[in-house]
Amino acid sequence: MAGERGDAAVEAVGAVDVSGTAKPNPASAAAVPAGPNGPLGPSRTADGGAGDWTAGYLRAREREGRLYSDASVAALPNVPATDALRSEWRQRADSAARLVVAVGRRPRPIEILEIGCGNGWLSNLLAQIPGASVVGLDATAVELDQARRVFAGRSNLRFVRADVRAAAPPEPVPDVIVLASVIQYVADLPALIRQLLGWLAPDGELDLLDSPLYRTADVAAARERSRAYYASIGVPEMAGTYHHHDWHELDGFAFEARHRPDSARARFERRVHRRHRSPFPWLVLRNEAAR
Ligand SMILES: C[S@@+](CC[C@H](N)C(=O)[O-])C[C@H]1O[C@@H](n2cnc3c(N)ncnc32)[C@H](O)[C@@H]1O
Repeated sequence: MAGERGDAAVEAVGAVDVSGTAKPNPASAAAVPAGPNGPLGPSRTADGGAGDWTAGYLRAREREGRLYSDASVAALPNVPATDALRSEWRQRADSAARLVVAVGRRPRPIEILEIGCGNGWLSNLLAQIPGASVVGLDATAVELDQARRVFAGRSNLRFVRADVRAAAPPEPVPDVIVLASVIQYVADLPALIRQLLGWLAPDGELDLLDSPLYRTADVAAARERSRAYYASIGVPEMAGTYHHHDWHELDGFAFEARHRPDSARARFERRVHRRHRSPFPWLVLRNEAAR
């Protein structure tokens, strides 16, 4: 989910085929692991309170036309030229290709955990790295079940349903944790980063990409755009689960910025080479980087 400004209002720009929308699979609840806060499931809001935040999330996805058919998910990030989200997917494809190349340079075997994998398209790409094993984790059963269905043929890829904030440390220990277009759904970003850095193997890396980070002065306006947007599509409760993170929330963490959308280089690539670079940063944190 990526728009030029990045807030929810800009993320939702298109209508996509929903004819193959996955149906909830009651069996998936059995895959929910118990974390330190007890069994996980759809009875928690994104902020840990009562209520099913994934239901509102899915309603928004449906209204935005983001629930794809199985055949479409299998082809992602490639979409037809007629797809209303084509431009966004070209940016996602660019980010994903760069991530795959970078992760593929790591020593093998490579244990990868993708948090918030959704329908699993990026986990599927990561699983094509030689020597990689991938776990995709997500709280939303409908898309996770679709991921299981669509990518069932990949023996080095499996999917786990959990709310990351309450999940137990994963086994095997990940060398790489990926959060692609996810942090906006988590209220306490520093807490999540500390948790995930603590899960990593000693030389592991945490990749944050395809999510907006705001200057302090821009947060209030972005929040208001998202509030108005979710009200306009009839899912006002989502405004409470969509968070506009400030760069300052990363103060105290060491990170390498592999892509800065406002850098001279990124602007040059976009304007001169017409590259479809993400409007959002790609940051890499290492496990010794926590405060
Ligand atoms: C916008 S989608 C991104 C999906 C995928 N990573 C991609 O790049 O297309 C955000 C995903 O994060 C998941 N998510 C949000 N908060 C989560 C949490 N606390 N625990 C697990 N998954 C979460 C949502 O269910 C959703 O599938």
